[in-house]
Amino acid sequence: MNVIIFGPPGAGKGTQSRSLTEYWGIAHISTGDLFRNNIANETELGLKTKAYLEAGRLVPDDLTISMLEERLQEPDVVPGFLLDGFPRSEPQCVALERIMSDMGRKIDHVINLYVSDDVVRNRLKGRAGIEGRADDADLEVIEKRIATYKTQTRPSLEYYRPKGVVHDVDGVGTVEEVFDRIIGALVRT
Ligand code: AP5
Ligand code: MG
Repeated sequence: MNVIIFGPPGAGKGTQSRSLTEYWGIAHISTGDLFRNNIANETELGLKTKAYLEAGRLVPDDLTISMLEERLQEPDVVPGFLLDGFPRSEPQCVALERIMSDMGRKIDHVINLYVSDDVVRNRLKGRAGIEGRADDADLEVIEKRIATYKTQTRPSLEYYRPKGVVHDVDGVGTVEEVFDRIIGALVRT
């Protein structure tokens, strides 16, 4: 099973991905985590991408797509994978379609977690003190991430709607309630 989890910053993509990948026995691929690991290890990719994450802007598509394509060569994706934070632009949707077709696979489900801007703001402010992410510590960067989501990322959903694979799931509630909603939505298809 190959799944995308979609939603604004702070929607709970990472939180739900951890439970869902364990439940389904599939790989969790977070492009944000991959970038942060590269930045922490000061790799060439990390040096090229640090400024984008710090500003809350999307990393250029070519860098993001080649990183994801490389990650999808690893053996743990064989049973399936959950993409957390990818695709985030129309070119990334098109590239993913090509990569899937090269692999002889397809995207089975897109989980669209929706929450209001105020929920996003509160959750990210709360996380700033816990995870120490640089992009949570600055209110302006949080606003930039919300705006980037609306202008560049949210339109990508329209790429998947006509395929009938999108499940809209309310992201407000306890972590367990949201998890049960996601499982329920997928079972009903
Ligand atoms: P990324 O790491 O993907 O960050 P994001 O999209 O901003 O999303 P977050 O990780 O902040 O939120 P989340 O939805 O995972 O929420 P979480 O579960 O942590 O991307 C970071 C940056 O990398 C981007 O800005 C960009 O620069 C770059 N990037 C990444 N992918 C890219 C791509 N494809 N193309 C180009 N650039 C890319 O939850 C948030 C908080 O809320 C936590 O504290 C959590 O405990 C809490 N919480 C979760 N669920 C609940 C709940 N139900 N109730 C109460 N609290 C909850
Ligand atoms: Mg995340």
